[in-house]
Amino acid sequence: MVKTYTFNTVDSTNVLAKQLAEEGAAHGTGVIARNQTAGRGRLGKNWHSVEGKGLYCSVIVRPQLSIQEYPKLTLVAGVAVAQVLEALVPQKVQLKWPNDLFFGGKKCGGILAESSSLVEANTKRYAVIGIGININHTLDMFPLELQDQVTSLFIESKAELSIEEVYEKLRIELLAQVKRFEDDGFNAILEEWRQRDYLLGRQMECVNTSGVVVSGVALGPDDGGELHVRDENGQVHKVLSGDVQLARKRV
Ligand code: BTN
Repeated sequence: MVKTYTFNTVDSTNVLAKQLAEEGAAHGTGVIARNQTAGRGRLGKNWHSVEGKGLYCSVIVRPQLSIQEYPKLTLVAGVAVAQVLEALVPQKVQLKWPNDLFFGGKKCGGILAESSSLVEANTKRYAVIGIGININHTLDMFPLELQDQVTSLFIESKAELSIEEVYEKLRIELLAQVKRFEDDGFNAILEEWRQRDYLLGRQMECVNTSGVVVSGVALGPDDGGELHVRDENGQVHKVLSGDVQLARKRV
């Protein structure tokens, strides 16, 4: 039986899960907290946690894959989370490359996948999949400046949910999708991701990690999970990582 560590308050479940992974915690080990004081988002952003209202969890995975495959885990996790949420809310989840979860154009959650060092031997390699989902939030629980951009499962379905039950379903689905990735490869999972692609065909701007601004129409992720964008000159750019936003309006 794989263990889940449950806390009232932590700084970040990802930080804790990474410590546990470094100490050798098994594939599937989870960390869940009612609150986080320093929840982390992608690209060094903060993740706003509301005590007892959201799901704040991290799951350690140790897939037998080359380290080059590890970045795809964010998209694999996106499909797992979408499948679980779609069974709870009568709406399709939209996935905004690479890690955002939306309902009706509003953010309801995000994924922060972090890997062990690239040089780590196969046997020691791990990734921590951090997942934050707005579950029982009402709109007034979010900072004023975010209220027109966010939503929660409660807002969408008008039903309160058990956060522990959502966590358990998510952990099981995440591990199932990671196994599918190991056994059958990325293509079928990517196809399911593409069916929920929020950015596809939209005009967007992206600052990649080299600081270069790419603006154009989103063409979706390629077979390696990297986003393609076509600029106004017809040139196609690849975006491996970076901050992606719709042109003009920040999301
Ligand atoms: C994002 O939208 O940028 C990703 C947000 C990920 C937030 C979750 S909450 C649980 C886990 N612990 C963290 O510190 N971050 C992730």
